[in-house]
Amino acid sequence: METQILTLTDEHISLAAGALQRGELVGMPTETVYGLSANPFCEEAIKKVFEVKGRAADNPLIVHIHTLDLLGQFVEDPPPLTYRLAKRFWPGPLTMILPKKKELPDIVTASLPTVAVRFPAHIGAQKLIACAGFGLAAPSANLSGRPSPTKAIHVYQDLCGKIPYILDGGECEWGLESTVIKLQNNSVTVLRPGAITVSMLQEVCDTKLGYGVLQPVSSEKKVESPGMKYRHYAPKAQVILIRGTEDAFYSYLKGSLRPQDVVFTIGRGTDISPGKPLAFGDTARERAHRLFDLLRKADEMEAKTVYIPCPSQDGLELALLNRLLRASAFRVIDLVKE
Ligand code: TXA
Ligand code: MG
Repeated sequence: METQILTLTDEHISLAAGALQRGELVGMPTETVYGLSANPFCEEAIKKVFEVKGRAADNPLIVHIHTLDLLGQFVEDPPPLTYRLAKRFWPGPLTMILPKKKELPDIVTASLPTVAVRFPAHIGAQKLIACAGFGLAAPSANLSGRPSPTKAIHVYQDLCGKIPYILDGGECEWGLESTVIKLQNNSVTVLRPGAITVSMLQEVCDTKLGYGVLQPVSSEKKVESPGMKYRHYAPKAQVILIRGTEDAFYSYLKGSLRPQDVVFTIGRGTDISPGKPLAFGDTARERAHRLFDLLRKADEMEAKTVYIPCPSQDGLELALLNRLLRASAFRVIDLVKE
């Protein structure tokens, strides 16, 4: 199958929507990362999503909507907190785990009694959903285990020949996947941190961090968010996180780098030869925006080891930390003296 990258014209959106109606898959831009979208009511299409990504069957998908009215197609009796959170954070990078409607095929939710729902802010995603005429199931559009795609070309690199269309909506604004939360009465548990931060959620309700956000989860363990147990976001190179000040980071690396080492640089930077630098950025937002693209670049450079300054747990940094702990298989060198 030939894979075409399409710009976001009305004509191209109806072409892509037509493919979705026939049970085919489409690469869809969102403000977080690109999604691999499909009709959630077509089991054949959802089967293809799992096949094409090489995704474990026990890892459920997120359903994307473009108006609150669509919620009722997927969710049974959403608790009142749903609407308070939706009013504040939708459209945007927040995914809510809610009671599933029985009409939604079990394959979408990996047979869980709950369904994950998100209302993306990207106009391309909203137009595609409206034109298709149904909400869209979509995991991130990478091959399982690869860094999530933040540009149309990343989707092409992973899925070329396997899907008919990729809608190119430019670089994703955030570059990290949505915050995933589970609702219980008047509180929420963060299962995956993202651009909607813990303190933003705390302005609306009690918020706690779920098990697995900062811990490794064994593959046998039953967890609330199955995605947490897979070694995600991993480039081919070995990633090592270094916790400490900027000075400590550079003095640790000085003199010990080899030509096939890559360093994600921050701040003033320094001469790290014979290692190779990739500019990580000076704000958490920049670093989030670039992270997955840089992990892919490190692979293209055939890096053996990638050294990255370890993010903190504050605000958006928590989401970066969560992704990087998984990319590094929890390999952290701690230079902070107690
Ligand atoms: O930003 C995003 O969320 C992107 C864009 C495309 O919307 N999507 C995305 O999907 O990251 P995916 O499939 O790569 O990650 C979905 C995560 C997985 O960790 C999955 O286990 C979890 O959400 N999840 C989905 N349904 C769930 C459910 N019913 N209960 C618990 N966790 C669920
Ligand atoms: Mg993913």
